[in-house]
Amino acid sequence: MDVKIPLSEKDIPKQWYNLAADLPSPLQPPLGPDGKPITPDMLAPVFPMNIIEQEVSTQRWIDIPQEILEILYRWRPAPLRRAVYLEKYLKTPAKIFYKDESTSPPGSHKPNTAVAQAYYNKVFGIKKITTETGAGQWGSALAFACKLLGLECKVYMVRISFDQKPFRKLMMQVWGAKCIASPSDQTEFGRKILKEMPDTPGSLGIAISEAIEDAVHDKTGQTRYSLGSVLNHVMLHQTIIGLEAKKQLKMVGIDKPDIVIGCAGGGSNFAGLSFPFVQDKINGADIEIIPVEPKACPTMTRGEFAYDHGDTACMTPLLAMHTLGHAFVPEPIHAGGLRYHGMAPLVCQAIVEGLLTPRAYHQLKCYEAALTWANTEGFICAPETSHAIAAAIDEAVKAREEGKEKVILFNYSGHGLMDLTGYDAYLSGKLADYELPEDSLKKSTACLKGLPKPSTKKSGKW
Ligand SMILES: Cc1ncc(COP(=O)(O)O)c(C=O)c1O
Repeated sequence: MDVKIPLSEKDIPKQWYNLAADLPSPLQPPLGPDGKPITPDMLAPVFPMNIIEQEVSTQRWIDIPQEILEILYRWRPAPLRRAVYLEKYLKTPAKIFYKDESTSPPGSHKPNTAVAQAYYNKVFGIKKITTETGAGQWGSALAFACKLLGLECKVYMVRISFDQKPFRKLMMQVWGAKCIASPSDQTEFGRKILKEMPDTPGSLGIAISEAIEDAVHDKTGQTRYSLGSVLNHVMLHQTIIGLEAKKQLKMVGIDKPDIVIGCAGGGSNFAGLSFPFVQDKINGADIEIIPVEPKACPTMTRGEFAYDHGDTACMTPLLAMHTLGHAFVPEPIHAGGLRYHGMAPLVCQAIVEGLLTPRAYHQLKCYEAALTWANTEGFICAPETSHAIAAAIDEAVKAREEGKEKVILFNYSGHGLMDLTGYDAYLSGKLADYELPEDSLKKSTACLKGLPKPSTKKSGKW
């Protein structure tokens, strides 16, 4: 029985996979304030040009620079594991595999792109990077990457997580970054929000606005902004996860999984694991591919497919994505990384095509799954990751009921050792389920009226 399936360092993927090359209906371009597609130079104050080139690239395979690989070797290739103890507990004939992204120094998949982004910024001559963070996973990943590449790092952390997760803030400080609660008094937009809503728990949309404002207002031109999810280049950098997993499954004689699962906040860990399998599906493979989100922030399952801003202050271009509206302020559920109003355009276009089947879960079900996981496999997962585990359990139970030996693969996006306050709230019975009410959804999507509409045309193959 193969419980751990390691991949040798010499077999680490040397290229990333770009789904934009293979999507049957082309990705719809980001639009500027005039409703016209933006040009790369319009993004130049925010991102370095080498990253913008990746953002707009439709090249299928993109080489991973050696300097990035040398940093990734600290924990990559990441292990593929088989959850045999959970399988036994569930009495399922299914084989459950998971890609263990919790083994990176900051404890999640986020450094896969943090290292790449810090590298490209450095090569471009940038000295400082600003960013936002929800759960703190992204902020700590970027702090780690900036330290290794010799860049300054400033992180705007969503207020609710800043209060709930003091240890993440300390990790950022250990790696030399500045971490500030958002909304803050350090930006014009933060001050405006604080005046209007002094008790707001904050949101990723607000924190993004602050981090962009900070970057573009640096008169020296040596600061850029970095986003930990949503954008095409982030999805690209994360595909190393799925490319490794494919090789590892082959090592145990599995040609393809039947089901691929990932939790989805902005879409990056889900995309990272699944896009190489989406490519196989486009080429005819029969694979069910499931992104999972919280019912409290049901972007893919109840949001509109619309052109919307990535941030609350409307500083970003309009992206064609499923969205709850840029003004959406989610309930303070513990899966902080799944509280974003939008979703990666690449994931959304794949949803429009029918290549993915998104679903949404309540947080109590997810914590229950996290406890089952900890009591069988032994590991304590991040609250975000528990959504993927809950779906894997549901699929394994279904396989048992159907008597089918399915292969389930999911992304174990991070450990939960810094998220124990959420477990505390669950264990002491303080957590409740929350489903976004229909009238709140109507209110939060009202800001989409008057914005351009993306095409929902699809190839009709799925
Ligand atoms: C452990 C973990 N999983 C998942 C996510 C969700 O982000 P994404 O959808 O970009 O993978 C986060 C975000 O912070 C996270 O920390």
